Amino acid sequence: MKRPIIEPFRIKVTEPIRVTTGVERQKILEVAHYNLFAVRAEDVIVDLLTDSGTGAMSAEQWAAMMRGDESYAGAKSFFRFEDAVHTLTGVPHVFPTHQGRAAERILCAVSDLTGKVVLSNGLFDTTRANVEAAGARGLDLGRADALTAHASFGGDVDLDAFDRAMREHAGNVALVVMTVTNNTVGGQAVSLENLTLVSQRCRAANVTFVLDACRFAENAYRIKQDEPGQAKKPLSQIAREMFDMCDVFTMSAKKDAIVNMGGILAVRDRALAEKIRVDLIRTEGFPSYGGLAGRDLEAIAQGLHEVLDEAYLEYRFAAARYLGQKLADAGLPVITPVAAHAVYVDAGAALPHLGAHDLPGQSLACAMYLAGGVRTCEIGELMFGADGPKRQLVRFALPRRVYTQSHVDWVGAVAEEVAAVKARLPAMRITTGADVRLRHFIAEMRPEAPFPFG
Ligand code: F0G
Repeated sequence: MKRPIIEPFRIKVTEPIRVTTGVERQKILEVAHYNLFAVRAEDVIVDLLTDSGTGAMSAEQWAAMMRGDESYAGAKSFFRFEDAVHTLTGVPHVFPTHQGRAAERILCAVSDLTGKVVLSNGLFDTTRANVEAAGARGLDLGRADALTAHASFGGDVDLDAFDRAMREHAGNVALVVMTVTNNTVGGQAVSLENLTLVSQRCRAANVTFVLDACRFAENAYRIKQDEPGQAKKPLSQIAREMFDMCDVFTMSAKKDAIVNMGGILAVRDRALAEKIRVDLIRTEGFPSYGGLAGRDLEAIAQGLHEVLDEAYLEYRFAAARYLGQKLADAGLPVITPVAAHAVYVDAGAALPHLGAHDLPGQSLACAMYLAGGVRTCEIGELMFGADGPKRQLVRFALPRRVYTQSHVDWVGAVAEEVAAVKARLPAMRITTGADVRLRHFIAEMRPEAPFPFG
């Protein structure tokens, strides 16, 4: 028998899961107005809502937390954090923030964005909201075939579209943001070549190149696996080459630093760093803690080290592929190559009887919950409304080091039950909150007809 790729860790602490009944879940979802963000975590059996802040920390991270220095200024923990970020990225001015969106908000506040445009391979929803709140327009220029080409680097920017946009908006492009991996575009990776070409264009046009680096390790692993000429490089070198491209990076540490809370903002330019320092003190905290406890900084420093372990990344990709295979075997159309942090299902294709306005992604997500307590996240019309990508996706995100193979088998079995009745999944209507930005967090909905369960 072929040996499986195993979880390269043992489990020392456990958290109970309560297995709810279908009747209970029907009631729970009604009370939550069919918004899965309004469901209590204890009422979820397998929680694939997000990979953000939901990972399990290692024994070394917990041990590092005990060394947390909680001094207001100049804490030892800050210097360990700063050293870890320097070693990984080489970017000189490093600021902790309480999470990724705080780094985005501060960057947008200190950059002159009014009336400008921000070009991207795919802005994450909070990044777009921060860009817009600062008076700029975000333009996503991802590959048109990103979700259909089944190519290794579907997260790349479309260089022709990028060049056109740079010409059309010459003198008015405030920032270029490359999101690695490209979360809103099926979690697809971005090639080193694409990052290099975009960064060269930014340097030539004197435009600030920003890396949204929250899943840098997963992106680096894909580069090592799939990009010609990269296989022999250590992952740390590939990661470094990615960071070498940027003038600025923002990072939610809740992803590839494998912590439950934290973010990073880092810049090369001293004058920009000075502006950030002032804003950080006003809004997040003193620059040596930036909204985090000293112990959080310790956990990030250790996590940044652990995440580039090849055995860990091999297992992480294998786990996602395994989930992707289960969902495909169940009969759901899966976006390939399967990303590491999540498997994306094309709900529009799975439920062709529903148009975008019928929210097929939300219908499928609700069905997964009703059938088996599996919580996922719609990424489509509900999340983005009219300005987003035109695909109706459901994201099955995998928390880091949390679920085992049998949990994934459960998800696969539930997906089979859902796929068997997919033609009867109902349209969803928004009853409250349709016009709010980031409406997916708070909107209330109802199904047009009963779900075929129970
Ligand atoms: N950028 C990307 C690509 C993200 O995926 C996220 C968060 C952020 C920025 C913001 O970071 O949450 O620490 O403020 N993504 C989570 C998700 C919420 O579920 O994909 P944050």
